[in-house]
Amino acid sequence: MDDLKGLILSGGRGTRLRPITFTSAKQLVPVANRPVLFYGIEAMARAGIGEIGIIIAPETGEEIREVVGDGSRFGVKITYILQDEPSGLAHAVLTAEEFLGTSPFVMYLGDNLLQGGITDLVEAFREGSPDALILLTPVPDPEHYGVAELQDGRVVSLQEKPAEPKTDLALVGVYMFNADIHEAARAIEPSGRGELEITDAIQHLVDSGKRVEPHVVEGWWKDTGRLEDMLEANRLVLDTVERRLDGEIDEASTCEGRVVIEEGAVVTNSTVRGPAVIGAGARLTDAYVGPYSAIGENCTVERAEVEHSILLEGSSVRDLDARVESSLLGKDASITRSDLQPRAYRFLIGDQSEIGVA
Ligand code: DAU
Repeated sequence: MDDLKGLILSGGRGTRLRPITFTSAKQLVPVANRPVLFYGIEAMARAGIGEIGIIIAPETGEEIREVVGDGSRFGVKITYILQDEPSGLAHAVLTAEEFLGTSPFVMYLGDNLLQGGITDLVEAFREGSPDALILLTPVPDPEHYGVAELQDGRVVSLQEKPAEPKTDLALVGVYMFNADIHEAARAIEPSGRGELEITDAIQHLVDSGKRVEPHVVEGWWKDTGRLEDMLEANRLVLDTVERRLDGEIDEASTCEGRVVIEEGAVVTNSTVRGPAVIGAGARLTDAYVGPYSAIGENCTVERAEVEHSILLEGSSVRDLDARVESSLLGKDASITRSDLQPRAYRFLIGDQSEIGVA
């Protein structure tokens, strides 16, 4: 088999994570304080893939380039490939055709997280040399995903987000293909949502008698496209962090369990109950940070309580009576008590934000 390449899809629009994705790519939203996209790159690097193409969109591509760089820190070589319009996953494959050449490749959706990596699957693909290998997992809401139907362990049909799914087996956003996928992507028509669907291209492979192998994944899998999924992904990854206290923690503070305090963070008279990560330059003062929280770089939590939440870089929570829970705060966002009398809420809220008050 030719040497395997990697293709990571980080274009698209990210409408379901607005307003966060008005200003930033959804693939850069952090999980346990690291961009989602990094986990995919690392999984490929660990599986021995040295050359990775990253599909980027005109609006967010520059930011992705800046954050990810040339790949040297992951031990891989990264080539950026601009997709002018988010015309679908199969369109992204066609856009990458020059980069991919005739190589077989692993395609990884940049907003997906897969526990346990892809090393074994890549191994199985290299050894068995099927025309395609797809990953599946049972989900409670298959209508939101590509759905596969199997017969005697073989893929017989695939449908993208069917209103009435035939099975509960969702397509996980990691696929392995040989060069036949290019022809399949050219043969299909845009779907109802106007996209060239990879699901249809794989169906085309099946219909042409190609060998498409299904693999049901055993660990957890998350598509981080929605807030609940983001929080859940955060929870799952935080469960695996190892305790490391590199920041400044005063004697009046306690850090319990799996807690990471990055160097440059300052914790004063506060309690951090893990699993939790506190980014460099963050300040916790008279604060409580509870389980499953990721506090980004240079954030402030002061006289306030935060739990099961993600605070992006530079955001702050100050002087609140009630605990902030299951929340995602955008970069430099701030929540604070106002001195208005009579007591009143005072907001400056971006488009499509969501606030729940008691
Ligand atoms: O997450 C798994 C699901 O991903 C599969 O079950 C579906 O079969 C598959 O179609 C896909 O569905 P989504 O609707 O969730 O895909 P989304 O539009 O979120 O795009 C996935 C990634 O690919 C995301 O990182 C953005 C990127 N993308 C998307 C499009 C449409 C591109 O780079 N270019 C594109 O044109």
